[in-house]
Amino acid sequence: MAGELSPIDKAKFVAAKRAAAFVEDGMRVGLGTGSTAAWLVQCLGERVHEEGLRIRGVPTSSRTAQLAREVGIQVISLDEAKWLDLTIDGADEFDGDLNLIKGGGGALLQEKIVATASDRMIVIADAAKEVETLGAFPLPIEVIPFGWQTTQALVEETLISMDVLGRSSTLRMNGDVPFITDEGNHILDLHLGRIGNARQLALVLNQMPGCVENGLFIDICDTVVIGFGDGKVEL
Ligand code: 5RP
Repeated sequence: MAGELSPIDKAKFVAAKRAAAFVEDGMRVGLGTGSTAAWLVQCLGERVHEEGLRIRGVPTSSRTAQLAREVGIQVISLDEAKWLDLTIDGADEFDGDLNLIKGGGGALLQEKIVATASDRMIVIADAAKEVETLGAFPLPIEVIPFGWQTTQALVEETLISMDVLGRSSTLRMNGDVPFITDEGNHILDLHLGRIGNARQLALVLNQMPGCVENGLFIDICDTVVIGFGDGKVEL
């Protein structure tokens, strides 16, 4: 399945493969979004075919739903599942407290809902995603299209008083048009540089009218499986 991979893809693959081993027969599993999560879905599909593993997957995006069906995983909605045994997802950054920035793939809203409705969240990531302080990766926030520029101005204004380095933001684009999430919203990427108090920032952002959710995952992740380009894995 993996073939000849670049070091970065190998790192993602080995992390995903290791995390797939945590999935047990009968589990309801949240399936993340992104290139690392795509490896996970493929590894689980392989286990479904080769071992007869029976799982029900709740995808966190339309992309993941399509891939999961293609590899033979039974897909159900979160409301059908009600609660999940485990969610496995990628991340854009993680720190020593297992707090995360997510949303590089634009699926942060469903990802946070699904991860929060799980007994356990395992993050799979290549080693380059580990940081001392979150914030070098632009922090995505999902905003409703109505008045998004007003929301952007409010966010930037509020950031002045927070413990962050930068406060500029950009509307995520898909070619010439704004990126649209699975929930029909836009994404603003906040260029912060360094987030001193991620917990506080996450709360403040979610209090703003127009901001649906932010990509800071605080106290949600339980374990990070780190993959390396030489095939090594660390937990
Ligand atoms: C999608 C995400 C992804 O998990 C995150 O962007 C990491 O992606 P990749 O595995 O492709 O590096 O949060 O919204």
